[in-house]
Amino acid sequence: MEAVVLAGGEGTRLRPLTLTTPKPVVPLAGRPFLSFMLDWLARHGVDDALLALGYKAEAVHAVLGDEHHGMRLRYLVEEEPLGTAGPLRLAADEGMLAESGPILVVNGDCLTDFDLSAQLRQHSETGATGTLALAAVEDTASYGVVPTKESGEVEAFLEKQPGPAPTNRINAGTYVLDRSVVDDLIPAGRAVSIEREVFPEIVGSGLYGFPFDSYWIDIGTPDRYMEATYDLLAGRAESELPRRDETDSLIYDASITSGARIGPLSVIGRHCSVGDRSVIERAVLHDDVRVGNDSVVKEAIVATGARLGDRVRVEPDAIIGAGAVVESGAVVESGARVEPGAAFG
Ligand code: GDD
Ligand code: MG
Repeated sequence: MEAVVLAGGEGTRLRPLTLTTPKPVVPLAGRPFLSFMLDWLARHGVDDALLALGYKAEAVHAVLGDEHHGMRLRYLVEEEPLGTAGPLRLAADEGMLAESGPILVVNGDCLTDFDLSAQLRQHSETGATGTLALAAVEDTASYGVVPTKESGEVEAFLEKQPGPAPTNRINAGTYVLDRSVVDDLIPAGRAVSIEREVFPEIVGSGLYGFPFDSYWIDIGTPDRYMEATYDLLAGRAESELPRRDETDSLIYDASITSGARIGPLSVIGRHCSVGDRSVIERAVLHDDVRVGNDSVVKEAIVATGARLGDRVRVEPDAIIGAGAVVESGAVVESGARVEPGAAFG
């Protein structure tokens, strides 16, 4: 079974993290984000994943390589972004899609453990043109809203539309599509949005929903990145992460934190050091971060290689970019963004 993973977006909402690291490999609970999704695909029998990339494609390849737990990884690199449908057309034209059978497409920024096998089964049993996985969310504003009839048939596809939504069921970014959708409905040579140009076209022609109630989250904003981190640490989202400590925190290899207080719900990447009496609470440090003495980092993200001096305070929702240097005594205020490599304070 083959899957096309859409992972070429710029991840603008996760800046400054994505200025240096493309979203698919931004560390989530210490692992490249996409590896969670690849684990899930593999559990459901996918043995060949075609990663459709653009932004910083080489960096993704360098981290993930050509194989993941026995699953083959192939790469399709767009010169210009082709949107969420264009890559399917390019893959078909380049002979990178299987000759026959339906096509499985996933948005590469979702963490989930819903029953993909059941979705694939439903698609083949109903003979649908397309089957869209539908999650339930409280606030539908940043998603594609998908009302369905009692029969499961999709009534409309409403991508990020203002105003009250007709349902709380949204597009979870996992599609099974008949090959004809790619061949007949996706023009070549330009960016095409599957949500705005393709799905509305096939409403009424065999497009069905597959509603599910298991865990699902799109990690593409800082808030949701933190929420996904906490859910993984606390075990609300299933994963193959190492065991957490009694504070639901994860401290990776070769990090020195013995004089500090870590937790609850924190991640300390590899080769970090956190000095005496410093406190890391509900916060994430990527790899190679150094924090001095008597500093406090709460509900914030510190990217790879950043250095924090002594008596630094990093307040909730702040993000410190890779390699930035925060001087002793500085306060990084709530919601602040420190650019990669910047000197702060
Ligand atoms: N290859 C490639 N090329 N991938 C792209 C491109 C592109 O030009 N543009 C976006 N992507 C990838 C992103 O990397 C991401 O994995 C996925 O397509 C979806 O793009 P986002 O930018 O994250 O979209 P969104 O989260 O605002 O909305 C989409 O996902 C929601 C669910 O998370 C839509 O599909 C919504 O309908 C959906 O509800
Ligand atoms: Mg997204």
